[in-house]
Amino acid sequence: MAIERTYVMLKPGVMQRRVAGEILSRIEKKGLKIVAMKLMNIGRELAETHYAEHREKPFFGELAGYITSGPVLAMVIEGDNAVAAVRRLCGATKVDDALPGTIRGDYAMHTGMNIIHASDAVASAEREIALYFKKDEIISWKDGNEGWI
Ligand code: RTP
Ligand code: MG
Repeated sequence: MAIERTYVMLKPGVMQRRVAGEILSRIEKKGLKIVAMKLMNIGRELAETHYAEHREKPFFGELAGYITSGPVLAMVIEGDNAVAAVRRLCGATKVDDALPGTIRGDYAMHTGMNIIHASDAVASAEREIALYFKKDEIISWKDGNEGWI
């Protein structure tokens, strides 16, 4: 097991539908740790840099349009094998393949508006975290504050 960090972003539909708490709750209940978080508007340039690997894909315009259409909740999530762990919670990219019990399976009807982004590898996570967060916006905190909970 390796402690990893991954970049997770709740897409604009989550804020519109007021379900950010429900999705965050799934991430927290799994045992993963939020180490950075902010509500932000993404500009076109950042959207295109983030999803640069998809620049030539037919859905690129729709994808960039969607994630710039309203605020997103950007976060860094930490935990054992966090990259794969969050991808499992998200479920498959295509909503028809995303099983019930996964975030996309339970909350998304359209692949182009599939609710959540999560880094697909440790290297992508490092690149994406640096795109959205300054180093001092990421808080390393320890478990076990006795008497607090
Ligand atoms: P994400 O990057 O958002 O976490 O999603 P992912 O890794 O599961 O899937 P990826 O292949 O990276 O695709 C990025 C986003 O593009 C949209 N998409 N639309 N219409 C389509 O066939 C299609 N395929 C992908 C999705 O919104 C996906 O999250
Ligand atoms: Mg991806």
